[in-house]
Amino acid sequence: MTEKAYYITTPIYYVNDVPHVGNAYTTIIADVLARYQKLKGRDVFFLTGTDENAPKVAAAAKERGIETKQYVDELAGQFRNVWETLDVRYDDFIRTTEQRHVDVVSAIFERCLSQGDIYKGDYKGWYCVPCETFWAESDLVDGKCPNKECGRAVEWLEEENYYFRLSAYSQRLVDHIEANPGFLQPEFRKNEVVSFIKQGLRDVSITRKNQGWGIPVPGDPEKVIYVWFDALINYISAIGYLSDEAKFNSIWPCDVQLMGKDIFVRFHCTFWPAMLMALDLPLPRVMFGHGFWTTDGEKISKSKGNAISPAKLAAELADESGASRQVAMDSIRYFLCREVPFGLDGDFSREGFRHRFNSDLANDLGNLLNRTLSMVGKYFNGNIPDPGGHSGALKTEILKAGSTAGEACERLEFSRALEAIWQMVSASNKYVNDSRPWDLEKQGRTDELAGALYSALEAARAAAIMVSPFMPTASAEIARQLGIGDSFEALKWADAAAEKPFAPGTKILGPEPIFPRLDSKKKVEHLALTPSETEGGGRGQEPGKVETKPEETPKPQAEVETVPYDYFSKLKIKIAEIKSAEKVEGADKLLKLQVSLGDEERQIVAGVAMFYDPESLVGRKIVLLTNLEPAKIRGVQSNGMLLAADVDGRAVLLQPDSDVPAGSKVK
Ligand code: MSP
Repeated sequence: MTEKAYYITTPIYYVNDVPHVGNAYTTIIADVLARYQKLKGRDVFFLTGTDENAPKVAAAAKERGIETKQYVDELAGQFRNVWETLDVRYDDFIRTTEQRHVDVVSAIFERCLSQGDIYKGDYKGWYCVPCETFWAESDLVDGKCPNKECGRAVEWLEEENYYFRLSAYSQRLVDHIEANPGFLQPEFRKNEVVSFIKQGLRDVSITRKNQGWGIPVPGDPEKVIYVWFDALINYISAIGYLSDEAKFNSIWPCDVQLMGKDIFVRFHCTFWPAMLMALDLPLPRVMFGHGFWTTDGEKISKSKGNAISPAKLAAELADESGASRQVAMDSIRYFLCREVPFGLDGDFSREGFRHRFNSDLANDLGNLLNRTLSMVGKYFNGNIPDPGGHSGALKTEILKAGSTAGEACERLEFSRALEAIWQMVSASNKYVNDSRPWDLEKQGRTDELAGALYSALEAARAAAIMVSPFMPTASAEIARQLGIGDSFEALKWADAAAEKPFAPGTKILGPEPIFPRLDSKKKVEHLALTPSETEGGGRGQEPGKVETKPEETPKPQAEVETVPYDYFSKLKIKIAEIKSAEKVEGADKLLKLQVSLGDEERQIVAGVAMFYDPESLVGRKIVLLTNLEPAKIRGVQSNGMLLAADVDGRAVLLQPDSDVPAGSKVK
């Protein structure tokens, strides 16, 4: 029997608009994961698609004044085009208007009806079209949609309908979550799901009055199936459920389902698993709810008018830098994966994007390749030299990057994976600086010169392999310039650490700068996402130019200072419970927390906004230094300091090993 495919899904996108940088994120991440898993030698199945039966899709077509079917065909095509330009290689693209999907949805509806999971009733309540969600009166906030990102008007419905018996699955859902610790990720979103379920699940209305668009209810065509009941089924209809059993069994259960936090709790971690339980199907291994991309603190979305088109952004970057369009697309993929830990919100700023391009891509990776190739050109006529016994100087760095980045990708920690690869790139640049090939050449130490350059080429090749899931075009171009373009596609992750990987006589084809540095002196307004600002320095990337960072002088080993017990006993450390959390306006890194110490409430400001979502913190117990001098941070009063471990600059909150009352002393 062959191994089950590693199955990855993205949400299927409403076709009421083309993708922007925000909603392209999930698909880019899915593509990175799929490419990584393939590079590890696994069989992968990657599914994406479009959600076409929603009332809001019909409304968008009406607004455009065209037939809904014509409209969805057009938009589905545009989605495919965007994925193509972003070099996303899915294995299947499902559209919910396709017959293969409609048949499965109808059959599942009938089965659930006959086994009592669906029953007929009357719906009286509210519906939000932009969110495609039913709301009870008590859910509304000021009479509007309670979804924080929406807040729009809701419409009143009184319809005969069908309900899905969600309430019957509460306990089984909680049991499953508790028995499978990795099921809901990131870990901090798990509490939100459990408390949503424990509040008491209501049965879900799963039909709407038929207004001419949607999948008709079998045997009751006056109604159509609710778009979420319909859409979630794509994850199984696309892979042969009820149509191709062998295919289905070779792919299901899903390994990773990716989605944004807005559709995580209610739809993907409650409704969907309950539907699967009703069908007696195993649940996915991991449900991952990532954060939002914002600009200036606002979620990127078409309705907010701040959507950024990836194609446009790439075209602008390419025009300004001279990089190819495809490499510019790769740079967007790189930025989205590198800039924030996967799971948290991130702000898409022009400065951040430009900075990563210049510093990580042009200065670090680009420089390693260019300087090395340029010296191979100059000193060895463009032929990769035989290193004799002198190769492999960077072997330890390559192995370390391979294992750290690999483990990080398995855990879906893509920014950490890139960090590890970049540590290798920086170490390689430092190695070139330290081994001073130009002096070796002058001194006629040809063997050592060959070894030094060969070692740097090995690192550049390893980098090309490891970054290929993130930047497929750029890595193939690195390989081409290294003279290994033809064999590159067949390489696997483990080949990054191959012994003497270049065949004797390999001829290089570079350097041709892949990431030409953005020059701040050139006209930049057209790249602006935020009002333009100036940036210091900036040179075009020159082949062979050795751009080094200032050398760090090793600091003398500091003696560990001890303190008498008296000092320590002055620190009043207690357990506190977080009651509420919100971002501090205008400060990316800060959260304002209201905490309880049992008999006292406090406000503190903590620099953890880059690592924790405010909502995920509510209800958590933390360790608080309570008698630190009060201070105002960015104008906000802070009375205490939470304690966290510093893991390579990432704050990881400390918390008690078991549940203890707020106010307990820590000694
Ligand atoms: N059609 C539903 C999903 C059905 S899945 C069975 C839907 N579609 S959507 O087009 O509105 O959103 C698709 C995905 O894009 C969601 O995961 C959403 O979280 C994500 N994003 C939309 N804007 C985003 C940002 N600004 N940032 C990050 N992700 C964002 O919901």
